[in-house]
Amino acid sequence: MRTPFIAGNWKMNLNRQGAMTLAKGLAEALDSISNVEVAICPPAVYLSEVAVAISGTSIGLGAQNMYHVGEGAFTGEISPLMLRDLGCQFVILGHSERRQFFGETDATVNAKTQAALANSITPIVCVGETLEQREAGSTASVIEEQIRGSLAGLSADQGSRLVIAYEPVWAIGTGRTASPSQAEEVHSQIRQLLSSLFGSSVADLIRLQYGGSVKPENAAELMSQPNIDGALVGGASLKVDSFEGIIRAAG
Ligand code: 13P
Repeated sequence: MRTPFIAGNWKMNLNRQGAMTLAKGLAEALDSISNVEVAICPPAVYLSEVAVAISGTSIGLGAQNMYHVGEGAFTGEISPLMLRDLGCQFVILGHSERRQFFGETDATVNAKTQAALANSITPIVCVGETLEQREAGSTASVIEEQIRGSLAGLSADQGSRLVIAYEPVWAIGTGRTASPSQAEEVHSQIRQLLSSLFGSSVADLIRLQYGGSVKPENAAELMSQPNIDGALVGGASLKVDSFEGIIRAAG
């Protein structure tokens, strides 16, 4: 059985005080959660303070991006070694906002995925189609290309350490959620693809998160689908009550 995994992507939100208040609030509220794995992904500048606020709890720490090289002359970038140093167990890679605004491609996501795995950081690799692509009927081919490109060259052992997030771009921050059956259709396609890349026993281990306007009200139905193993939550992860509601719905 796959343990449900809920991650909060805070994106570029909150100030230092707000980040600390949220982290401390979650540490308290989630104390009794044991059947769901939880991680929070604050902005990089707050990672070390948030790490202190959640230390001793079961909440994991993740970054929202990283560069694929360990160290060197790469002004403005953050390396896997630095994330390890701060206690990050996870890193979100290839989020659609990074693909859209910062030129990330399947090739850069692939390099970063390899680097994360080499440094024992679990990558949460994001894929998802735009509204235009969905309406053109190309969802399946877009997802296949993103998965094959982002995971190129990984061994089955590396594959077993992945988390994949399916985030339809049209559902992100729009209040428009994919229906449980729309999401399940893509998740099941991703599982089959992972099975062809890594074998079915590895594919069965990989958690597939859904992301895009997940809320306490729609979380249970989404996560009751056979291939939806959790959620990558944006807006609703910025408040203790709504994030906790989603986590409890997953348990
Ligand atoms: P929202 O939950 O705000 O739609 O964002 C989803 C997302 O992009 C998580 O990575």
